[in-house]
Amino acid sequence: MNPPPAAALEAAAATRVTLVLGAGDTGKSTLVAALAGRLAGLGHTVAVVDADLGQSDVGPPTTVGLGRVRRPIERLEEAEVVGLEFVGMTSPARCMRETAEATARLVARAFEDGCDRVLIDTSGLVEGNFGRALKRIKIDRVRPDLLIALQRRDECEPILRVYEGGPAILRLPAAATARRSPAERRRHRQRALDAHLAGAIPVTLDLTRVSARPAPGGRGLAVIDVLGALVGLDADDGRTRGLGWVSALDVGKARLTVETAVGGEQIAAIAIGRERYPAA
Ligand SMILES: Nc1ncnc2c1ncn2[C@@H]1O[C@H](COP(=O)(O)OP(=O)(O)OP(=O)(O)O)[C@@H](O)[C@H]1O
Ligand SMILES: [Mg+2]
Repeated sequence: MNPPPAAALEAAAATRVTLVLGAGDTGKSTLVAALAGRLAGLGHTVAVVDADLGQSDVGPPTTVGLGRVRRPIERLEEAEVVGLEFVGMTSPARCMRETAEATARLVARAFEDGCDRVLIDTSGLVEGNFGRALKRIKIDRVRPDLLIALQRRDECEPILRVYEGGPAILRLPAAATARRSPAERRRHRQRALDAHLAGAIPVTLDLTRVSARPAPGGRGLAVIDVLGALVGLDADDGRTRGLGWVSALDVGKARLTVETAVGGEQIAAIAIGRERYPAA
């Protein structure tokens, strides 16, 4: 992989929490991967938090992921996944605050686990009222020490303007990349979910023992909401072990069947998401 820009490496090495923002296909994830690998090489204990719910690199779509990087990597997907927060949607539209909270919890967990550098990758939504609100809620909740903005023109300035005098800000030109179409993004998302659910087998859960709740971005607990829903599966420590999807529900017997690669004996609670699987 190309080395990260020297200014970015120097700034990220000097602070604990770095958040990278920029529009779609500006090279955010590639920069986070390059920085993480170099910081690990410098002897830092490095975590990455992937707050992009749709084009996820660390953990599957619909989650915020926590990863560890211990050596140089080519792509962010190579980070070792050590934590997941299931939000239940691939778009943060209905759950901006919950996505920001999940991101902040995983940053805190990285420090609890002994990391000394955390790099946060974000979605490409930066423009318009929605993109600005999304990024500001995240920055305000996570309070990074450093913002790195990858810009084609000045599209991040409305966000950055609010933070003059706050975290350090480094502006860099966007990478010259091919823009991906919405259809390519959908395919990438679907492939990532398929990969996560590869090897899934039916696991029947007893709902008198396993608690069910709507995910932050979920619909509800009515049968129509639950059947076919993508779900987050938590162990008894409250941590999400992986995803599955609901293939059957027997209300009379209080039994619910999920297709998942997570071992049934580990599952203590499930969160019902908004997305369906397999996608229609
Ligand atoms: N500095 C660079 N030089 C050349 N190609 C690059 C560079 N950075 C990224 N790319 C390529 O551009 C594409 C998009 O990069 P990347 O996934 O890092 O962007 P992103 O901003 O994270 O996109 P998204 O908004 O979808 O999350 C990838 O194929 C990547 O390999
Ligand atoms: Mg990305």
